[in-house]
Order: sequence, then C-alpha cells, then structure tokens
Amino acid sequence: MSSYNTEPGQSLAACGLSSSLVMQLLLFLLLFSSSGQALLQCPKACNCTLKVNGTSATCGPLDSFPMGLPVDTTFVSVENTNLSQLSSDALRGLSNLQELHLSGNRIDNLNSGLLKSTPNLEVLDLTYNTLSELPSGLFRNSTVLHSLVLKGNRLETLKVDWLEGLVALKWLDVSENRIQRLPSDLLFNFSALQLLDLSDNMLLELPPNLLKGLPNLERLHLQGNQLQTLAEGTFSATPCLHYLFLQGNQLNKLSSGIFSSLGKLDMLDLSNNSLAQVPSGLLDKVGPMKDGFDLSENPWKCDEGLCGLYHWILNKQDRMFFKHNTLCSSPENQAGQELLEVAKKKVCPE
Ligand SMILES: *[C@@H]1O[C@H](CO)[C@@H](O)[C@H](O)[C@H]1NC(C)=O
Ligand SMILES: *[C@@H]1O[C@H](CO)[C@@H](O)[C@H](O)[C@H]1NC(C)=O
Ligand SMILES: *[C@@H]1O[C@H](CO)[C@@H](O)[C@H](O)[C@H]1NC(C)=O
Ligand SMILES: *[C@@H]1O[C@H](CO)[C@@H](O)[C@H](O)[C@H]1NC(C)=O
Ligand SMILES: *[C@@H]1O[C@H](CO)[C@@H](O)[C@H](O)[C@H]1NC(C)=O
Ligand SMILES: *[C@@H]1O[C@H](CO)[C@@H](O)[C@H](O)[C@H]1NC(C)=O
Repeated sequence: MSSYNTEPGQSLAACGLSSSLVMQLLLFLLLFSSSGQALLQCPKACNCTLKVNGTSATCGPLDSFPMGLPVDTTFVSVENTNLSQLSSDALRGLSNLQELHLSGNRIDNLNSGLLKSTPNLEVLDLTYNTLSELPSGLFRNSTVLHSLVLKGNRLETLKVDWLEGLVALKWLDVSENRIQRLPSDLLFNFSALQLLDLSDNMLLELPPNLLKGLPNLERLHLQGNQLQTLAEGTFSATPCLHYLFLQGNQLNKLSSGIFSSLGKLDMLDLSNNSLAQVPSGLLDKVGPMKDGFDLSENPWKCDEGLCGLYHWILNKQDRMFFKHNTLCSSPENQAGQELLEVAKKKVCPE
C-alpha cells in the first residue's frame, strides 16, 4: 500500500498542472536530485504526500517504526497501531522533521538519543501510550519544540532533567496520567509556556512555586485532581492567565488573595469542589470574566459569611454558569435554594 500523492486536488495526471505545483516540483528536484533520494521514495507501510514544505508521511499498521522515509520529511504520523519500540536511530536522517505524531500506540519507553538528530521538531504527540517515565536528556536538542503532548500515559511524576532543553515550549499536556507530585522547580525555565494541562491526575497538592517561572501562561487545567487547597501565592507570577480550570477537586479552603493577581481572567471553573464559604473579597480583583464562571456543585453555606461573594455575583450574574445547580447546602432554612436567589434577597448589611 505504499503510495506517493501530491496535495488533494493536485493530481499529477490532470492536464492543467498549476504553475505553483510545477514550481514546487522543480524546486524539489533541484534540492534533492543530487542527494540521490528518489523522488517517489516512501516506505511500504506509509502513504507519502508532497506538501509545500516537504513530505508528509502517514504510516500503519506496523509494529516497528518505518525506515527509509525521504530526507525532506517534515510530518510523520504513526497512530493507533501497535508500535511499541522506537530504536535510538529511528529518526536518523530526518533532520527536517517538524511534527511527529505517535498517539494510540504501546510505547512504554523512549531512548534518550531518539530526538538528537531532529533539531527542527516542533510538535511531539505521544497521547495514549504506556510511558511511565522519560529518559533524562531526551529534549537536549529540541530547542524549537513548542508542543509536547503526553496525555493518557502512566506517568507518576515529571522530573526536571526529563524536560531539560525545551526552551521554546508553549504547550505542555500531561493530562490523564497518574501524577501525584511535581518538583517545585520543574517549570522554572519555561518562560514561553502558554498552556499547562495537568488535569485528571492524582495531585494532592500543587507546589507553591510551581508556576513562578511562567509569565506567559494563559490556560491552566487542574481539574480532576485531589487538591484541597492552594498556597497563597500560587498565581502571583502568572498575570496573563485567562482560563483557570479547578473543577472536580476537593477544594474546601481558599485564601482571600489567591486570585488577586489574575486581572485578565476570563473564565474560572470552581464547580464540583467542597467549598462552603470563601473569604470576602476573593474575586474582587479578578479580570472581566468574559467567558464566565462556574460555582455549581459545592456545599455552599448561605449565611452572612458569604456576603462578599453575593455582592460579586450580583454584578456578574449574566456570566454565571449553571445557576440552577449552584445551591445552598446549609443553613437548614436555605438548603436547596439557589445561591443567586439568596444573594438577591439582601441578607447582608449594606
Ligand atoms: C494509504 O492510502 C490507502 C489508499 O487511499 C488507504 O487505503 C490506506 O488506509 C492508507 N494508509 C494509511 C496508513 O493511511
Ligand atoms: C509547513 O508549512 C506550513 C505553512 O508555512 C506550516 O503551517 C506547517 O506547520 C509546516 N509544517 C508542517 C509539518 O506542515
Ligand atoms: C494490536 O494488537 C491487538 C492485540 O494483540 C490486536 O487485537 C489489534 O488488532 C492490533 N491492532 C493493530 C492496528 O494492529
Ligand atoms: C543538534 O542540533 C544541531 C542543529 O540545531 C545539530 O547541528 C547537531 O548535530 C545536533 N546534535 C546532535 C547530537 O545530533
Ligand atoms: C534553568 O536554566 C539554567 C540555565 O540554563 C540551568 O542552570 C538551571 O539548572 C535550570 N533550572 C531548572 C530547574 O531547569
Ligand atoms: C466531580 O468530580 C469528581 C472527581 O473528579 C468526578 O469523579 C465527578 O464525575 C465529578 N462530578 C461531576 C458532576 O462533574
């Protein structure tokens, strides 16, 4: 099933070859005719497509990484097959590789030298494999890698030397693993990071300084962990945060200044936690909340202790999600009432 195609709609058999395609082919021949690479070289298990910036290869089913991909390959996908091993020289010669997609395989370990000859790699997707660790130094030569996806593996932690070298990282997704703890200095050098997804792990606490090196962080996913509280200064160095997902934890206590540095926040999800009371002023300094907030599925204790929150909610009620599921649990005379309705009843001193 080896085949070599041009972009969809640009069949070589068609009479009216577009001039841009001709230019591409000429350029391609010019670049590679002297290097001895056959124009139509493509491993047996792969479909190769000639794109503007190089060959794109989609391979499978197979059980070992395809050898003999063209040197101009920029995109490789070997997904949802039973690939379990990648030898240290699997990518040798693919110095132009920009994207490597390996999701849905059975990869349980990686060789530390795997990426040393792919310095142009920008995207590495290892979603749904069986990795429980990464080798130290794997990314030493990955200075332009901007997206790393390790979702759905078996990682119990992340180590500083696993991620060393990822100076351009913007997107780190380690959701759906078994992470219980993270080292405090893990992300100190990740100043370009914009998205951090730690959702659906087993985090019992977040190191207080974990986010201190992330001035450009915009989205933080912490939902589906076992967090009970967050240290006071957790978000003090992430002023660009727009989206904060904390739902599905066991938060029962938040300190009054915890969100006060988040002046650009557009979305806050605190639903499905164990919050009964929150300090007055908790949300007074958060940003415009353009995309809304969710306080549902918490055991709110709707007495005067929540007056600060009532006041804030009344000003932002058009941004409130799941009003009908945001209910009071206590005191007894308010149990089952909607938090918003209680807030409207002015139980608070002016
Ligand atoms: C390669 O292309 C053929 C024909 O379009 C298709 O049947 C096959 O599934 C493709 N293989 C891969 C790995 O995408
Ligand atoms: C190829 O070029 C396009 C347009 O410049 C770019 O968006 C894309 O990321 C490049 N790489 C791959 C592997 O497609
Ligand atoms: C992967 O292996 C399983 C079990 O050995 C088999 O049932 C499945 O068909 C294989 N999948 C592919 C894509 O080869
Ligand atoms: C690392 O990448 C550079 C290019 O950025 C390359 O010259 C060098 O050979 C690579 N290192 C190794 C060990 O392959
Ligand atoms: C951060 O980068 C500096 C300089 O490259 C290095 O010495 C230090 O060990 C790094 N720290 C962490 C926690 O990665
Ligand atoms: C609430 O969070 C728990 C723990 O993460 C989860 O199992 C449950 O499905 C969530 N419930 C709702 C209604 O989202």
